Order: sequence, then C-alpha cells, then structure tokens
Amino acid sequence: MISQMLLDARRYEEDAGNRIAEMERPAFHLTPRAGWMNDPNGFCLYKGQYHLFYQYYPYASRWDSMHWGHAVSSDLLHWDYLPAALAPDRYYDQNGVFSGSAVELPDGRLLIMYTGVRIEDRSVHPYRDVQTQCLAVGDGIDFEKDGRNPVIDENGLPAGGSRQDFRDPKLIRLPDGRFGALVSNRAADGSGQILLYVSTDAFTWTYEGVLAANHNRFGKMWECPDFFELDGQYVLLTSPQDMLPKGFEYQGGNGTLCLIGRYDETSHTFTEEKDQAVDYGIDFYAPQTVLTPDGRRVMIGWMQNWDAVAVREEAAPWAGQMSLPRELHIRDGRLWQWPIRELDALRQDKVQYEQVSVGSERLYLPGISGRCVDMEIRVRPKDPDASYGKFVIRFAEEGEICTSIRFRPSESTLKIDRKFSGSRRAVLHERRCFVENAKEELRMRIILDRYSCEIFIDGGRKVMSAALYTDPSAEKISFRADGEVLMDVTKYALAVDSR
Ligand code: FRU
Repeated sequence: MISQMLLDARRYEEDAGNRIAEMERPAFHLTPRAGWMNDPNGFCLYKGQYHLFYQYYPYASRWDSMHWGHAVSSDLLHWDYLPAALAPDRYYDQNGVFSGSAVELPDGRLLIMYTGVRIEDRSVHPYRDVQTQCLAVGDGIDFEKDGRNPVIDENGLPAGGSRQDFRDPKLIRLPDGRFGALVSNRAADGSGQILLYVSTDAFTWTYEGVLAANHNRFGKMWECPDFFELDGQYVLLTSPQDMLPKGFEYQGGNGTLCLIGRYDETSHTFTEEKDQAVDYGIDFYAPQTVLTPDGRRVMIGWMQNWDAVAVREEAAPWAGQMSLPRELHIRDGRLWQWPIRELDALRQDKVQYEQVSVGSERLYLPGISGRCVDMEIRVRPKDPDASYGKFVIRFAEEGEICTSIRFRPSESTLKIDRKFSGSRRAVLHERRCFVENAKEELRMRIILDRYSCEIFIDGGRKVMSAALYTDPSAEKISFRADGEVLMDVTKYALAVDSR
C-alpha cells in the first residue's frame, strides 16, 4: 500500500518538477526532480536500466525530512524521473528515510535497505536519534516496506557501538553467494567503523564483525560505505565527517576516503594498504558505485559539500546534483577516475588548436566557449629550460564573473576558485590539489555542465569537482599565463539531445 505521504510527495514533485525549465538544470548531471537532493542511494542495474535513487526533500531546496527520489537511465547521462520511491511514513523511519542501497533478489524483485531514523528525545540538543536498518521490496517503481522492519537494530551492534550513528547500509553479494550489508557506525572511541552483517535470504541478518575501523585517523564518523573488488584489489570508499586537513591529501570538514587493500573472504577481514582522497575539489561526497554489464566499476557522488551548501540560495528551484559517472581503476596503488565513456557520444563540434602561445594577455580563442563542454588541455613552458609563473583558465566568464583554475609550477599545485562565480555567500570557494608530473606538461580534461566543473588531471590520477551557480549565459573561456606557455586544446560541445 502506498501511503498518503508518498502519494502527496509524488503529486507535488511532478507538478513542481515540470515547472523547472530545462535551462535551469544541468544538461547531463542528475538533479532532484524538485527541491533538495543529497547522497546517491540504491545505485544499481535492474532489468536492463540503471536506477539511481537519492536523498530527497521535494518540498523545498533545503535538507529536511528525508524521502528517496528516483531516476532511471540507460547510459547514466540521460535521466528520466520515476515517482519518489520512499517517504518517512512509518514509526521507525518517521524522522527520515536515510541513505542505503539496492540489490536484485533471486526472485527478480528489487530489495532496498535504508536507514530509518526516529528522534527519541527532542529535549536534548542535538536531538537523540535512533537509527536502524530497514527493508523495502518492489518492482523497480513501487516499494513495500517489510513487516519485519527494522531488520538490523541496536541489538546487532558490537559493544560500544552507537545506536545514534548507525546508518547507510550498502548491500553487496559476498564471494560465497550470501548477502552482505556494510553499515557505518560510531565506535566507542568516537570515530567511525564499518560493520559487516551477513544473510542467506537478505531478510534475516547476523552481525559478522568490523570490516574497517577509523581509530580517529581520518575524521570522526564515517558515512556511506561502498566496498568492491577492482583490478585484483579491494576498495573501501567512505565519507568521513570532521576531517582535519593533512598536507594536500585531505581537506578539513566533510571529505572522502578511499582505502585500497586485501580482503580475506573466509575471515571477512580487510587489510588496508593505501589511503587517499577520492576527489580533491570542493564538492564531492557519499559516492556509490555500480558494475556495468561489460565489467566497468562506475562511481557517482553527490556533487556538493555539507560545509558549503549555503552556496545555493534557498529560493532556487532545486539544490544538489550528482557528479558525472566515472570509470574507476587502480594504477600504481591509487584510484584513478575517468568520465564514463558514454560521454564521448555526446561530443559535437570539435575545435582544436595546437602550440598556442599563451602569455600575460588574456586569450580568447574562436570556438572555445560554452557551458556544456568537454575540453582537453596540455600546457608546457615555451622555453623547455625555463618555467613559468602560473597558468590560468577562466570559464563561465562574463565581465568580472568567472570560475578559475590556476596552476603554479613552482608548487605543482592546481587551484579551483569560484569566489567570483556569482556567489553571495562566504563559504568554501577554493581548493588546491598537488599535481604529479606537471612541470614538463600539465594535462587536464575539463568537463563543464551548466552548474558544475569536473577536472580530471593527468589522465585521471586526480579529480577536482565543484558546483557553480553562475548564470548559464556566462559562457566565455579565457587563458593567461605569467611567463610564456604553449598550449594544445581540443574542445567539444556536449549535447544530450544527440541520442
Ligand atoms: C551523508 C548523510 C548520510 C545520511 C544522509 C541523510 O551525506 O549524512 O550519512 O544517511 O546524509 O540525508
């Protein structure tokens, strides 16, 4: 039975969603049908289509009582909305249907596991939540919450585990065919741990053990885990809260963490070998992955940062968007990312320049402009024996308005700066990233959609993502350098209607 609350949300979102003009949304990044979006949820391939659910408040462009929004796609770039999938309409999830995941059952139904939130004490600040793991089963459009909910609660916690910070279950298939659920939890030391639960039927769950523990190394609580095999190793993705910055690797606040290591299938132990940030820009959080039929591991994150949500005005028709889907690989012990190859099919109108001299005069090149753009750039010093001061690209530019990328060879750092993007808020607007192998040649692929930029550095070794809310009429792109550089640029317009 679909509750009145969900019916109301479905009716509201259809109406409000239809009132948002096409140009007010990105061309190929998913936004909420109406209102607010955060984490990707339930990202899966089901009956030949990719399903992406998301944390959702349809009624306003701010975080509030969480629902699950829903969209489907066949190429992860053209999205069609489906009706909202879940509303906070039960006792155990009355204060929010938080993040979770989905997996196909052997009988062909789609199973969702999510976190139900109930505030048990409003007299204390912050409120005291109880977070439990709950199930809903359906046909890919409508979902019935299970009568046994919650299926994992505080009784399944290890000693000292918090019943308040216990969320974001990620369903996986274990190598022995059983189902696994990885759940974020706060341990007695105040920092995150990822708990593993196992089940043979996906409805009755038993606590198995701790897959990974923070021990206060990377921020505090860990949110939104994902865990998968990649190129012969295992990868644990999680999003730590309350990070301390560490060199150029980790930034303060809400961050992303990738642990690469070995997984013992019998003892269910994960041995970490390497750690790194997932994204080095301003906006990327809570990623989830899917495996494509041809074996590619593809990741999508929420292209927003909790520390900077105020960058979006509340009066805006929508808030929050997903990142580009990115193909993942492990190379040299690191996680590499590259825009999903389906994006190449959206490329149009190639414009190419080689060996362009760029100096102190701001340079605009014919054909190089736009807000839906795929642009590959190589930059090297004109005199190979000398260097240069800095190299700057400004885009989404009109007069004083712009977002910029600045490379300084002396530090080998790349900086993204959206201070002048039209934002009237004093929030996080800049981030820097250390770039390997760039003194001789800096290589970047820059993907612009109307409200974002994603910079893939050095073939995908590092990525910087940022949302920007500059009016889409600001389309100019310019180049400038202190000293002289030579630049090659290949640029395509990206158009979703080329299907
Ligand atoms: C991460 C997160 C999750 C939670 C959800 C609530 O961004 O805080 O831990 O399930 O958002 O919307």
